[in-house]
Amino acid sequence: MPPMAYQSEETDWGATVAGLGARRPVAVITGATSGIGAAFADQLAARGCDLLITGRRSGPLEERRRSFAELHGVEVKAVPCELSNRSGREPLLRAIGSLGRVDWLINNAGHGRGVAFSEDECSGQLGLVGVHVEAVLELTHCALTKMPAGGRIITVSSLAGFGVSPRSGVYCAAKAFATSFSESLALELKPRGIRAVALLPGFTHTDFHRYEATAKRNRGLVRWMQPDHVARSGLRAADRGQVVCIPGLANLMLYALVKLLPRRAVYRIMAGGTSSVLQATERGSADRSAH
Ligand SMILES: NC(=O)c1ccc[n+]([C@@H]2O[C@H](COP(=O)([O-])OP(=O)(O)OC[C@H]3O[C@@H](n4cnc5c(N)ncnc54)[C@H](OP(=O)(O)O)[C@@H]3O)[C@@H](O)[C@H]2O)c1
Repeated sequence: MPPMAYQSEETDWGATVAGLGARRPVAVITGATSGIGAAFADQLAARGCDLLITGRRSGPLEERRRSFAELHGVEVKAVPCELSNRSGREPLLRAIGSLGRVDWLINNAGHGRGVAFSEDECSGQLGLVGVHVEAVLELTHCALTKMPAGGRIITVSSLAGFGVSPRSGVYCAAKAFATSFSESLALELKPRGIRAVALLPGFTHTDFHRYEATAKRNRGLVRWMQPDHVARSGLRAADRGQVVCIPGLANLMLYALVKLLPRRAVYRIMAGGTSSVLQATERGSADRSAH
């Protein structure tokens, strides 16, 4: 049995999460203030789950909490927290430690930096490891102490985990960790009747890209998806017992392209950043339609 070290003496977390799971399954979703996390929260509440949701911005998080509860008639609690460091994660770990059960864990929270590794503060790059690696590991460990057979863990990784990038090296590496960890977890937890899914979206219309100058339009194999579609694919994958889910046909083709091309060709394409990926995939899809 995993250790039960996630309860607190100081705050009454039992009171904070009171009511969750009394009559319905409980879903814990990180990063539910916007994008893919908000879509997961909406869809799991529609399936009849009580929610424990997190985000950094307490105002929008509270608005989400209220609207999910009103719309779906379920219990929703919110814990604002910063997941990139241990002390920031503490409130959420303790809240989860005070729950009676966790039926769904959606490891979704995350951000990029958009700054090359050598040009950024090291603390900023370490923060990426904190939110995409350490938080995933620690929250999963904590939630598993409360997860019955039938539980589901979805970790939102990325197609970027198969790629490389001159400006997002740590992000790509962290997502490679997330995918690999989730796959191994799926094997480890199968005898307990718990499923783990690595969800690997490609470009998705969310707040993630709000500071990027890149035009958010379809080009070649790059097909922007809506967060609702991505979340629905993740839930369907969990229902079916899929270990890795790449939502959308174009993303599957992008994945195949990265796997099939010699690594040197991948480096050449990625060296120019997102715009050269768009050009290369455009050439790829034009070549295919010519045959
Ligand atoms: N959008 C894409 O194209 C894409 C593609 C592949 C994978 N992904 C992955 O999808 C996941 C969700 O991102 P999204 O696209 O839905 O972006 P989003 O709309 O920006 O949502 C990100 C969520 O994570 C929270 N968050 C970010 N950094 C955090 C931190 N350090 N501590 C605590 N919470 C944090 C945000 O909270 P606040 O808003 O309150 O700050 C927000 O709720 C991420 O893991 C991302 O890497 C996205």
